[in-house]
Amino acid sequence: MPGPAPHPLRSRWRRAGVRVRSTLAATALLAVLVVAGGVVGLAALRGSLYDAAEISGAVQARLVRLSVSAEVLDAGLEGPESAQRAALEAAVGADDDRGSHVQVLDADGRVVARSAALAGLDALSATRPAVGELVQEERELPALGDGRWVVTVVGARVDDRDFRVVAAESTAEEDAALRQAALVLAVGAPLLLAAIAAATWTFTGRSLRPVEAIRRTVEGITSAGLDGRVPVPEGRDEVTRLALTMNEMLSRLESSQRSQRRFVADASHELRSPVATLRAAAEVWSADAGAPREFTELVRSEAGRVEALVADLLLLARADEGRLAREDADVDLDEVLEAEAARLRALGAVRVRARTVPVRVRGDRRQLSRLVRNLTDNAARHAAGTVELRTALEDGAALLEVADDGPGIPEAERERVFERFVRLDASRDRASGGTGLGLAIVAEIAAAHGGSVRALPRPGGGALVRLVLPLGATAAEDDEAGADGSAEGAPRGPRGVQPPSAASR
Ligand SMILES: Nc1ncnc2c1ncn2[C@@H]1O[C@H](COP(=O)(O)OP(=O)(O)O)[C@@H](O)[C@H]1O
Ligand SMILES: [Mg+2]
Repeated sequence: MPGPAPHPLRSRWRRAGVRVRSTLAATALLAVLVVAGGVVGLAALRGSLYDAAEISGAVQARLVRLSVSAEVLDAGLEGPESAQRAALEAAVGADDDRGSHVQVLDADGRVVARSAALAGLDALSATRPAVGELVQEERELPALGDGRWVVTVVGARVDDRDFRVVAAESTAEEDAALRQAALVLAVGAPLLLAAIAAATWTFTGRSLRPVEAIRRTVEGITSAGLDGRVPVPEGRDEVTRLALTMNEMLSRLESSQRSQRRFVADASHELRSPVATLRAAAEVWSADAGAPREFTELVRSEAGRVEALVADLLLLARADEGRLAREDADVDLDEVLEAEAARLRALGAVRVRARTVPVRVRGDRRQLSRLVRNLTDNAARHAAGTVELRTALEDGAALLEVADDGPGIPEAERERVFERFVRLDASRDRASGGTGLGLAIVAEIAAAHGGSVRALPRPGGGALVRLVLPLGATAAEDDEAGADGSAEGAPRGPRGVQPPSAASR
């Protein structure tokens, strides 16, 4: 039963990748912590700052209360000078410049003493606490200026007379400190978040780097060379174990591949002599007048096919083991091609046009002859009437082309035909075709010589196979001899190039 479709956000989150996800998660978590911490911290700071203001207001009010006498209460604001009056004035004005102002109110709420800043003002508070009691409130006092104030009222009595002391403490300094702290937080938090995001991004990127290195190495390891190993980072974490496991797997693959190749090589090798014996026997037998002719002919041709197949398999097995192109000699490609042209002409089945210029490469002459033979075999088999052979120098590389005016190779198959056992004309007469290994061998030999081969459409119809090889030593100086490119150009120099090809029929 299919589960509910994942939420689009969730699937986007999954697709975002480890690096983006870690960075977002770490930053979001920290953002929550910073905001929560900021709110709690600012509240705590405000609490303790205002506590200080309240204490200072309470102390001030209580101190002033001690300087109040009945005489002063009776006299009121305009009372005569006296020692008591002077003491009260001093107490009341003590903290005036620090934003701490005091009023003394008699039982009727009349102002009997006040700090200078409160001149002309009526009672700041209407609260009447009982004697000995202290009341505090936090409010605005527009008459005294902006901001909030902590107002402390203390009820007191002297000589049976009730009075109140009102102290107003400005919280301007506390509020400024709070604003400062909020500003630091507002500027610092984004910086902190950015730093954490950058650090997480860098750190996860760095921890993922070995994974990318492993991936890149594995990408470069092809079936052609399983000997590569991924880099193993130091440590004992998952990445290290991944690398170790990957290398163990590569070792197992390599050894199983090696034994498989060994097996093919050994089997081909072992098959060679019995098949050769069989064919030789059939040949001898067919010469015998008494033997059934059709039977011996069949045995002879089938044995020949098996022999060719075994030889092809052996060559491919060697290529897989990287043992092709062992001999390193100068090979004149034009000579190889001219020899092949001569052979085709001798067979007489198709018209042959050869246009060659001297091209010399380094490599194994037998293998290169084999390569050319496989191409010309195909061309001759598919040609309507003409096979064209050409060598050239192009972009500092050796070029060899074999073309025919047959049906050509369909575009969709032009890469696939170089795979092993791929035959497009398999449905046709089996005996006329090969085993589908011809072009695979061509590709292996080309690769072993550092070159490449491609199937192309021939202009004017048909197939064209183009081989490009790196140039060897500079071409021979006897250019004049065969460079005119005439089809009937006489072969120059000693020939003797009859590459022994198991595929020959
Ligand atoms: N010159 C060509 N024209 C048309 N098709 C070709 C030509 N050369 C090769 N092919 C196709 O490519 C296939 C593979 O060629 P090859 O590897 O030489 O195998 P084989 O010759 O044994 O069939 C052939 O079966 C054929 O269908
Ligand atoms: Mg072939």
